[in-house]
Amino acid sequence: MSPHELRQRLEYFRDLGVKDLYRRSAPPVSRSAVVADAAEQSPIAVTAPVAVAELPAEMKPINIDIAIPGMAPEDDTLERIREDIGDCTRCKLHKGRNQLVFGVGNPATKLVFVGEGPGADEDEQGIPFVGRAGQLLTQMIEGTSAKEGIPVKRADVYICNVVKCRPPENRTPEPDEMAICGQFLFRQISAIKPKAVCALGSTAAKALLGGKDGVTKLRGKWHTWRDIPLMVTYHPSYLLRPYNQDAKREAWEDLKKVLHFVYD
Ligand code: SF4
Ligand code: URA
Repeated sequence: MSPHELRQRLEYFRDLGVKDLYRRSAPPVSRSAVVADAAEQSPIAVTAPVAVAELPAEMKPINIDIAIPGMAPEDDTLERIREDIGDCTRCKLHKGRNQLVFGVGNPATKLVFVGEGPGADEDEQGIPFVGRAGQLLTQMIEGTSAKEGIPVKRADVYICNVVKCRPPENRTPEPDEMAICGQFLFRQISAIKPKAVCALGSTAAKALLGGKDGVTKLRGKWHTWRDIPLMVTYHPSYLLRPYNQDAKREAWEDLKKVLHFVYD
């Protein structure tokens, strides 16, 4: 692996909030030997202890073997990324899926929405955000734009998730799953080169910004993902709960900011 590729890979893990990287099953050898050996290693094998302190006890120890697919080629396209994903079994989420949910919308869009992962309806239809939360998202996009006089429909934006396969019982994707599948998300955004990204909920925010801050702290302000302006707002599933009506108002405010920034 060239130093440039190595740096890209390390930055990729840093983006995911992974602080320490170790070689897989490294025997106790001298530091210089590890460095020399690491240079010859296949670029696809690393072991990443992911924020151990945050994980529930039953998930420890967590030496996760992460098989990182190849780096994004120049002139990457959504078709190429979809081809590379193939009939993916790179993480354990493949076991429970009916079908992979890649993404939907306009590949030439200026605005990308990123959710967490497919739910039951999405897993059945192969399209992101088609269930109840999806209908709310559609309504938020189209309702806000109509009200603001910005002619944007759901079909004009691009919508995808951090993980492409439905987690069992709709649980939150685990760090290793986010690390592996997040790589495809990064390629999707890089291929589209939108004017802005809107991260829906804490999983998307964590995948794209790293760090530990939750949505309440991150929302409503501009951040960046690799120089692309990024807004964090509440996940529509959260807004469906009846006691979160203040959040709903805030989410509409966030969306208004995004739409004006992108389309004015
Ligand atoms: Fe592959 Fe992503 Fe599905 Fe895991 S969630 S099996 S990495 S497509
Ligand atoms: N929730 C998500 O995060 N993504 C979907 O596609 C549907 C529901």
